[in-house]
Amino acid sequence: MVELETIDIEIRLLLEGIFIRYGADFRDYSPASVRRRVVLAMEKGGIPSVSQLQERVLARPEAFDSLLQFLLVPTSEMFRDPSYFRTIRETVVPLLKTYPSLKIWVAGCSNGEELYSLAILLREEGLLEKTILYATDINPKALERAKNGIYPIDLAPKFTDNYQKAGGRAAFSDYYRAGYGSIILDASLRTNVVFADHSLATDNVFAEIQFISCRNVLIYFNRKLQDRSFRLFADSLGFRGFLGIGSKETLRFSNVYPEFEEFAAVERIYRKRRAV
Ligand SMILES: C[S@@+](CC[C@H](N)C(=O)[O-])C[C@H]1O[C@@H](n2cnc3c(N)ncnc32)[C@H](O)[C@@H]1O
Repeated sequence: MVELETIDIEIRLLLEGIFIRYGADFRDYSPASVRRRVVLAMEKGGIPSVSQLQERVLARPEAFDSLLQFLLVPTSEMFRDPSYFRTIRETVVPLLKTYPSLKIWVAGCSNGEELYSLAILLREEGLLEKTILYATDINPKALERAKNGIYPIDLAPKFTDNYQKAGGRAAFSDYYRAGYGSIILDASLRTNVVFADHSLATDNVFAEIQFISCRNVLIYFNRKLQDRSFRLFADSLGFRGFLGIGSKETLRFSNVYPEFEEFAAVERIYRKRRAV
């Protein structure tokens, strides 16, 4: 039997308690990453032990909210990994153009950067008006920031550079106005966006989707939760739907792999096979 350190046992109890009290399920996240984040939360909060952290979190929802901000990693940028967006534009979009209407799901949307990147790309390709975009996450603060679409102005050069590398057809500055040290994205980009709290760990299919983008989320999960997520994606996709998971992850070792074909191998964009 694998010998667990006391802190790992305490963390398991903490996660079990969080699940029972709040229904948020972190029990199948990667243990090493959860441990790093719990320790950081304790250091920042001056909390000496996991059991004391647990006592606070279970007694006070605000303490749970602040622990959430440590457990969930919101890192993102617009047109992050530009070649992913370029590949979508060049290879997926021509097929999406043949659909009368579209539903696109950005799972684990964080502060909205990936969502707005897709919205800009869809607008430039004439698809935004016929698309409903679902942007989901379990971090209420990140979802709020996503709804606002406001980002620090010092990120604009990086966003602009990514946009150009992603094959942007206009100037990135066409999509925002600057003010008070921020860039404020054009609100019309989110006209057809539904922002929602949806967990890949506990929630289920909510619509029939043509394209799912879920990048830099599954790396935080263990194999069991990755498999649950992949099953959910496979069940959510309509006929010949697309799944983009980004170059850091793979579908290859999951149970749903036989249901997909590799559509753009490097960018890890898969397409659902015809049912046999
Ligand atoms: C590193 S960000 C990725 C953001 C964006 N997809 C990207 O690639 O730039 C990971 C996001 O996954 C979200 N997340 C973590 N667990 C989740 C879950 N069970 N269900 C949905 N989203 C989750 C986090 O809140 C965070 O916003």
